[in-house]
Amino acid sequence: MFNIVKGTHDVILNEATKYTYVENLLERVAETYGFKEFRTPIMEYSELFLRSTGESSDIVRKEMYTFQDKGDRSITLRPEITAGTIRSMVNEKLFANQDYPIKAYYVGPNFRYERPQQGRYRQFNQFGIECVGVTSPFRDIEAIMLGYNALKLLGFKNITLQINSLGDKQTREDYQKALREYYSKYVDEMCDDCKERFNINILRILDCKVEHDIEINKNSPKIEDYYSGEARRDFEIIKDFLTDNGIPFEINSNLVRGLDYYSGVVFEYRYTSSQGKDYGALGGGGHYNNLVKEIGGPDIEGVGFAFGIERLVKLMEDDSLFNNEEETIDLYIMPIGMQNQKICFELATFLRNNGYSVDICLENKAIGPMFKKAERRNALYAILIGDDEAKNKTLNLKNLTSQEQITVKFDDLLTILDDMFGECEDEHDHHHE
Ligand code: HAM
Repeated sequence: MFNIVKGTHDVILNEATKYTYVENLLERVAETYGFKEFRTPIMEYSELFLRSTGESSDIVRKEMYTFQDKGDRSITLRPEITAGTIRSMVNEKLFANQDYPIKAYYVGPNFRYERPQQGRYRQFNQFGIECVGVTSPFRDIEAIMLGYNALKLLGFKNITLQINSLGDKQTREDYQKALREYYSKYVDEMCDDCKERFNINILRILDCKVEHDIEINKNSPKIEDYYSGEARRDFEIIKDFLTDNGIPFEINSNLVRGLDYYSGVVFEYRYTSSQGKDYGALGGGGHYNNLVKEIGGPDIEGVGFAFGIERLVKLMEDDSLFNNEEETIDLYIMPIGMQNQKICFELATFLRNNGYSVDICLENKAIGPMFKKAERRNALYAILIGDDEAKNKTLNLKNLTSQEQITVKFDDLLTILDDMFGECEDEHDHHHE
């Protein structure tokens, strides 16, 4: 027995179908907003993350899967996809013609050495978008709405959208100074993590989940008192627009997020299942002013977010948001006698090439067990071929719902099937084209 690596999980069978469904829906939504797919490598040189995600973020300090390769280069399995996506835009010279914004979406695995728990894995999948080369707060709104609408299309109701603005550079410098002054009085009584945050990333203290620290945080200086005129104006535009468009949101002035590259608006989508389960944020993101330049691109801004696919699927399962229709196959082919397997096999190939989902019994079974098998596979029709049928180039086609059986010539089969499946396609949108 070999164990699966701690913090990773298999996605197989029905579960995999759910992942594909969720990913495909998100991709389709992104396409309707004009985003194009980017597939960047899972490994990047470590420097990319050291620069972009910020050396003081928890991810960089504690959670990266970093190793030396055989050429003694420091390689990191990506902990997120934003940095790699922007690196690709720089390397592929997408900024050269200044046809902004560049709109990217992506899906794929990420790696973080976190403590595994419900909704938290060491290898997990994200869907995300980046809109790069933006000047208008309406691009931030577009990104927020894309995520919100996608969640609605997946079936989520009562999503909580939390937003905050981290202002511009001056805002954060002034605010950090105020925080330092405030927390210097309390830091000795705060948790060890906060003691560390006090020195390296003071904003993250606001995120602390320890009860005593939450009390202290209640009276801390508030960022809204440090916004510049422009930061305040953009945030007002965003809030007004969301209100006018009936998108409910909460302002959480302690929302700072785990990555260091944000400025301006940041946001998170949260959801609690009907049984009260919450696996952490479904997704989050925000605006970034300096990231593109830090990665070697021009001095332009961007906005993006990412969803955690594991959390989406888990909550959709908990709240029965997946359509529970059992999977069917179109046809189950039953050779009566080994000598007829070859002709049945050829027929299966022919039908598959014409778009039908087909299973075939190649195990030399009696008729009874073959029907049992067809039933377990949820086959809609059975095809039976014995010696007489093989000789006459006919077959028996049985409707497994009505139990009606007809004899059909090989040459007529496709027309008959296309007719029958064409009819039920009108009723339940059959997948056969
Ligand atoms: P993030 O908040 O670190 O942002 O991750 C986004 C989402 O990924 C989270 O809300 C969560 O659903 C999921 N996630 C994160 N860590 C785990 C984990 N260990 N196990 C399962 N799911 C997890 C980013 O990654 C940014 N790159 C988002 C962004 C794009 N910002 C701007 N553009």
